[in-house]
Amino acid sequence: MTEHEPRGPEVFATDVDGAAVTERSPQLVETPQGKLALVRDGERVVAIDAWCPHLDGPLWEGSSAGGEIACPWHRWRYSLDTGRCTWAPKGDAEEAAETSIEVYPTALDPQGRIQVMLGDQPG
Ligand code: FES
Repeated sequence: MTEHEPRGPEVFATDVDGAAVTERSPQLVETPQGKLALVRDGERVVAIDAWCPHLDGPLWEGSSAGGEIACPWHRWRYSLDTGRCTWAPKGDAEEAAETSIEVYPTALDPQGRIQVMLGDQPG
């Protein structure tokens, strides 16, 4: 392979059942790219950075709704499509506008376990 050929997604197989990931219970997984949180977004599950870029809050202890994850510590919200911060308290708005998390798509294996596409970030 030359450096100009596109890289396919690096698939990381977890042992997490897709049904175990709900809006109120994201799951923490250790991957070759570090800890990620598996988060429910309607019919799909995405993998995101485990730690909030604000002050390292545990995003896997947050909850998701309306295409966003809310950090449990100061309630900053991040888009599960783009990873960009979509809301923060007024005093933090300027910093939040420059803040984002990584978002990775997932798929289910034939047994219903989640696979994370580590090399294939949308947005
Ligand atoms: S640590 Fe996540 S909002 Fe502050």
